[in-house]
Amino acid sequence: DWVMGDYIAEAVARIREQVGDEEVILGLSGGVDSSVAAALIHRAIGDQLTCVFVDHGLLRLDEGRMVMEMFGRNLGVKVVQVDASEQFMGHLKGLSDPEAKRKIIGREFVEVFQAEAKKLTRAQWLAQGTIYPDVIESAGAKTGKATTIKSHHNVGGLPETLGLKLLEPLRELFKDEVRELGVALGLPHEMVYRHPFPGPGLGVRILGEVKREYADLLRRADAIFIEELRNTVDSASGKSWYDLTSQAFAVFLPVKSVGVMGDGRTYDYVVALRAVQTSDFMTADWAELPYSLLKRTSSRIINEVRGINRVTYDVSSKPPATIEWE
Ligand code: XMP
Repeated sequence: DWVMGDYIAEAVARIREQVGDEEVILGLSGGVDSSVAAALIHRAIGDQLTCVFVDHGLLRLDEGRMVMEMFGRNLGVKVVQVDASEQFMGHLKGLSDPEAKRKIIGREFVEVFQAEAKKLTRAQWLAQGTIYPDVIESAGAKTGKATTIKSHHNVGGLPETLGLKLLEPLRELFKDEVRELGVALGLPHEMVYRHPFPGPGLGVRILGEVKREYADLLRRADAIFIEELRNTVDSASGKSWYDLTSQAFAVFLPVKSVGVMGDGRTYDYVVALRAVQTSDFMTADWAELPYSLLKRTSSRIINEVRGINRVTYDVSSKPPATIEWE
């Protein structure tokens, strides 16, 4: 609408004025905030923006390809893709404590991003998709008011050691405004209304030690669950179960259980499905998904993902459980 059109024109003018003819880099995560920031800044300064997309090997199925396609091919944004999965897997080897894993993933992320940023010697600006709630939250953290149960590694949390000026064009916006802006800038509705995905990615959805084999199995199970949620429409509301849940995903449990397949016995891994409804992510109810949806998802995962022979559904609310399992 015209209000959003005005907003975009104003934001574009402000970015142009701030940046002038200098160069900007931005860490693209595939999430909504960094994506909308990238689209907005690109609208303002075009090729003066370079995005760096770090693939830590803990992304969802096809995510890297989708990001490159959407930004590189469709929007014509300059994106450097860095495949750092070997490096991340190497550093995660032997680690099973959730906070230790978060710390390593956060540290490696900064390292890989900085190495890439240093190659872009003409960049003077670091752009981030910081939104208003992040500003409030980090103000709370500084005054010690926020109670932190899990440290939140976020792609936005880059240190100032790069010596770059900060460009944060979404600082005044709430999440729903960021989404509207994204749609107005031409990002696909499906992308802009995606469930949140944690910075450490599948790293905190594989319990204990992270292994590539586990990540590969989990990615496929998770994609089946999301596909079924998107394809199952609730007749009362006319909405898909993806839209009726706030966050939904599969979790990899590194334990084996016995099953049967044809004439044989299997001894394979377990995944748990998690789906919650929440307005603020501070408390959450497990979603009462239709049994038929759970049934289809379970049989597809077990039939299509060799290596997983059991699927469970998590019926724990937050509190006392958290949304993620780590
Ligand atoms: P919990 O598990 O604490 O999750 O109930 C609440 C919300 O926060 C997300 N989450 C994270 N996001 N880095 C992130 O960027 C993290 O380390 C992290 N841990 C949890 C979680 O996905 C949920 O939306």
